[in-house]
Amino acid sequence: MKKILFAASECVPFIKTGGLADVVGTLPKFFNSKECDVRVIVPNYMCIDEKWKKKMTYVNHFYMDLNWRRQYVGLLEMKYQGVTYYFIDNEYYFGGPMPYSNVRYDIEKFAFFSRAVLSALPILDFKPDIIHCHDWQTGLIPVYLKDSFAYGEFYRGIKSIMTIHNLKFQGVWDVPTIKDIAGLSEYYFTTDKLRDYDDANILKGGIVYADKITTVSKTYAEEIKTPFYGEGLDGLMSARSGDLVGIVNGIDYNIYNPSKDEMIPYNFNTLNFRKEKAKNKLALQRELGLTEDENKMMIGMVGRLTDQKGLDLVACVLDELCHDNVQFVVLGTGEERYENMFRHFDWKYEKDFSANICYDDALSHKIYAACDAFLMPSLFEPCGLSQLMSLRYGTLPIVRETGGLKDTVIPYNEFENTGTGFSFANYNAHEMMGTIRYAETIYYQNKKNWNLMVARAMKQDYSWKASAKQYEDLYDELA
Ligand code: GLC
Repeated sequence: MKKILFAASECVPFIKTGGLADVVGTLPKFFNSKECDVRVIVPNYMCIDEKWKKKMTYVNHFYMDLNWRRQYVGLLEMKYQGVTYYFIDNEYYFGGPMPYSNVRYDIEKFAFFSRAVLSALPILDFKPDIIHCHDWQTGLIPVYLKDSFAYGEFYRGIKSIMTIHNLKFQGVWDVPTIKDIAGLSEYYFTTDKLRDYDDANILKGGIVYADKITTVSKTYAEEIKTPFYGEGLDGLMSARSGDLVGIVNGIDYNIYNPSKDEMIPYNFNTLNFRKEKAKNKLALQRELGLTEDENKMMIGMVGRLTDQKGLDLVACVLDELCHDNVQFVVLGTGEERYENMFRHFDWKYEKDFSANICYDDALSHKIYAACDAFLMPSLFEPCGLSQLMSLRYGTLPIVRETGGLKDTVIPYNEFENTGTGFSFANYNAHEMMGTIRYAETIYYQNKKNWNLMVARAMKQDYSWKASAKQYEDLYDELA
């Protein structure tokens, strides 16, 4: 039996700001439980809902040195859907209304978390074969494993994997501060280790010291070896390319299941979507105060409203697109300028544009079920989960060919009648607009082929099954 510990800063259903939480909270359920004992450890944030807190049980507590700082570490536990979750408790670090605040403070918070994870293992009486670390917040774990924890008998042989969900965030601050927080010696602050030009970089440390590195799609694993996508670490990614693998994310096919989903008004499958998706559209149009017309093409956008998602392309041509025979439904929060842009269009094109600047799980399901197409023109996209949800609900993705979007959406070929969506290559607003208009043409003038494509999209398999197997193989290789 292999023992694996996932360490991460977020995890559904307890705490979520992005796709990272979906992956950390879903993947562990899909391993073969006879071969892998996978547990998860996350911070016990004050902002985790009471309903979950009530289910946690106290395990133990101790005091730990983080360099000269001496801190309380509480340990809590919960079994949920067959998986054991551990929570690290400390009110000083994990109080506050959100998991993240400013970078300097987050660095101290997650250095504490990383050290606490390792220190807690003997007390939890759990010695993993592999600690699977996710994103920069856990980047110090591979470093500590080779540093102060390398000499303890208990820790001997523990391997680490660093998974990059988003290379943009690295945990960078000045060297003296990070040295003081992490309690690492001068030795670690050279350019082949944590030093990053004049600063120190925590994710870099994780990548240098982890035994294997993974990222969340094959294409992104290649892209990050280039300067455009490498965020300054492309040289390191190339140097470690022998240990770098891309494993595409899945989604939970039990939760995202149009034939059973209780959050949508009309369930549907590959046989009856023609009628039932239209009913979902009418219901959503009514709910959001849009013109009620089942024949009007509806395009959805759901996600964090940030630069990464290609919203400056959208900003450039949206006004023009709103004069086409289409409706837009947007859901998400993020940068103020994008939130305000969508509010403006909501006001200007009231009956055909709906901006929902909030987080609303149920509404997201209704959008996936009701829309005809889903727009995701990302500047970069390590994997992307929304396009997978769209495919599952027969909502054809319109994407830029980058990262996981390129790996999961097959562009429509009108001559061979193949494909599961529409895509364009360059980060260019008019190229995007041309692709959207091409999709409109197919929707209005070749409904038969459109519907065949919907059926193909719904039949794609992006459940976790295949990807969980690839992680298991990687664990085998290491353990
Ligand atoms: C990040 C990436 C996204 C990916 C998710 C889960 O949010 O931006 O592309 O799907 O992590 O790995």
